[in-house]
Amino acid sequence: MAQFTRVSGSVGLISLKNPPVNALSAVVRQGIVDTVQRALSDPKVKSVVICGQNGIFCGGADIKEFGTAMSGPPLVPMIHAIEAAEKPVVAAIEGLALGGGLELALGCHYRIAHSKARLGLPEVSLGLLPAAGGTQRLPRLIGVPAALDLITTGRHVTAAEALKLGIVDQVTDHNTVDAAVKFALSVREHSLNARRISNNLCPPPSDLDALFEGAMQKVRQTARGAVAPVACVQAVRAAATMPYTQGMEREKELMATLFTSGQARALQYCFFAQRAVGRWSMPSGARWDTSKPRPIHKAAVIGLGTMGRGITVALAQTGLSVVAVETQEKQLMEAKQAVSGMLKRGAKRRGVAPVLDLVSYNCNLQAVADADLVIEAVFEDMDLKKKVFQQLSAVCKPGTLLCTNTSALDIDHLASQTPNPELVVGMHFFAPAHVMKLLEVVYGSRSSPQVVATAMQLGKKMGKVSVAVGNCRGFVGNRMLKPYMEHAFFLLEDGATPELVDQALEEFGFAMGVFRMSDLSGLDVGWRVRKEDGLAHPGMALGQAARVRQGRRYSPLADLLCEQDRFGQKTGMGWYQYDKPGGRVSRPDPWLHSFLEEYRARHGLVARRIDHQEVLERCLYTMINEGFRILEDGIAAGPEDIDMIYVFGYGWPRHRGGPMFYAGMVGLERVLERLEHYHQAHPDVPYLQPCNLLRRLVASGSPPIHRWREVIKKVRSQL
Ligand code: NAI
Repeated sequence: MAQFTRVSGSVGLISLKNPPVNALSAVVRQGIVDTVQRALSDPKVKSVVICGQNGIFCGGADIKEFGTAMSGPPLVPMIHAIEAAEKPVVAAIEGLALGGGLELALGCHYRIAHSKARLGLPEVSLGLLPAAGGTQRLPRLIGVPAALDLITTGRHVTAAEALKLGIVDQVTDHNTVDAAVKFALSVREHSLNARRISNNLCPPPSDLDALFEGAMQKVRQTARGAVAPVACVQAVRAAATMPYTQGMEREKELMATLFTSGQARALQYCFFAQRAVGRWSMPSGARWDTSKPRPIHKAAVIGLGTMGRGITVALAQTGLSVVAVETQEKQLMEAKQAVSGMLKRGAKRRGVAPVLDLVSYNCNLQAVADADLVIEAVFEDMDLKKKVFQQLSAVCKPGTLLCTNTSALDIDHLASQTPNPELVVGMHFFAPAHVMKLLEVVYGSRSSPQVVATAMQLGKKMGKVSVAVGNCRGFVGNRMLKPYMEHAFFLLEDGATPELVDQALEEFGFAMGVFRMSDLSGLDVGWRVRKEDGLAHPGMALGQAARVRQGRRYSPLADLLCEQDRFGQKTGMGWYQYDKPGGRVSRPDPWLHSFLEEYRARHGLVARRIDHQEVLERCLYTMINEGFRILEDGIAAGPEDIDMIYVFGYGWPRHRGGPMFYAGMVGLERVLERLEHYHQAHPDVPYLQPCNLLRRLVASGSPPIHRWREVIKKVRSQL
């Protein structure tokens, strides 16, 4: 709702009230309409201030109302009425003015912001555009280039930047409402014509066509198939080239197309799913709201390679003191230099002092004796990790949490090396660990809820999206990656090239196709694992049974490349060629193409034409099928957990909602039918066999994703 009072004799003060962020729900909109009318018809009121209660102006539309039937007064005429008022209206912006909140402020004649306020139009991140005049007023106020930047990226700006751009008229360090009331008193006699933004033209940019062409190119490159940023550019173009009323029509049209697009649904699903994964639960019944995290004051990291360095930086940036341990003196010195560099660069970006003193470096494991939590990040080698866990148990004070960053190894087996398995948990970071948003928190069969709660909370402090998952080979992310990659290799055997497969996946929206990703992370990583699993050793790839392992289809292509030291970017060649070892620009490699031809000829394989649809279906549906198995096994609590892991850790396009959401969009029946089709064609690939849960969901009429849990429960209870 909105409350009205008269202050300082002649100022009508309208205060929005809808905790926590004063979102513009139907009741709030009605409240604004009523109180504005009251203020305008009260002869004692000469000017008006609009503010929000509890230190927040307005967080924007009420996202809970999306997708429901519209009720209450619409935003556009409400903002129009404010702008058309004959009494000056001042927005007093504290805390946040986002989305519809900023559009409301743009309808006011003046804007005063507190120095700590943040402003922005983040609609694009929900697959929409600011459709209450935001795309038409902002460019008229601050010019096309700055408006394009804010609207197409959805980024928030500080009050200082807003003042510089001309979004606000004044910034105060003191009480914003008092300052706005004082300001309202001072402008009560002023003419308002020039203050009505919709009356003005956009400041003319020098070369309009070139500007919009550049903007369109930029969003097409970065948005990877997302439609909302493109519509945002089109709406701003309307502001620059059309009268205001026509521009508003265009804004409305574009919004209508976005509202019904699957992308907006996917992005809104992600918005809620990201919040839902924080409310974790374990099969034992332990939950986020009943498990209290332990206080952590001092952390330690063991092994300062690629991952350990990033983890050290992420921990120190939360303000924790960190002991960083590496056995070799030379490695330790290199790591110290690298960590300090990352901390300095991060601090510069955030405009704060680097926290170099929080990290101490040591070659001796004894140095971690008083840490509250230790994260092990030594080589992916079970024997080595077991030894480290045994040593840690002997060295650490009682009650220290022992965490491992293993990508796939058995948490229970590691926990069994310590006298307190309940204190052991996986904290699976993604490279680079101080940048990537995902953290898989892997609980073993004996991990205590308190320990899981502590790891989840620490993840949150580091700014990560933490997802609690059960213990199995590869956990959730890497377990699903295996069939995805395996299918990409099979596609090469069947006639595709790395370029074709990557192009299909990149056009789908992945940040990187599977082969480019494999070149970046290094082919040797998977090779080592396959060798340990007895799947690959020299000579095996050439023998009689080269394409069969353990009774199922196997592709030795990646092993053959590794045997030739083609490890990807680091060696300058892998699935692609690079100009030098460490080079980043990939080029198709004629050598690889003839190698594939020879390989097919040797194994009697006849190359056939593979199209993008087959690539997507075989790679993505097998991955999705494994996702259903993970749900069936209880390794992930719900589809949202899997989807957030893929969006934040594996470059899955957010506007497609994650693999499980995508399956629902495609239609579960269709996914099942295609899996059955491919399984018939390739009976030696068990990953293609549709899993029980998928069949049960289809048999239950393919319920929407938020109702899958009911079917999952039934399937699990029968296992
Ligand atoms: P790395 O090879 O870059 O670094 C491992 C470091 O551990 C080396 O600096 C080594 O000197 C040190 N080390 C070995 N034994 C030690 C001991 N006893 N005490 C102290 N330090 C010791 O390996 P990376 O890539 O950092 O991987 C570490 C762990 O993180 C592995 O378990 C890996 O599976 C996992 N991981 C790796 C990811 C990646 O993208 N590289 C992603 C997620 C997890």
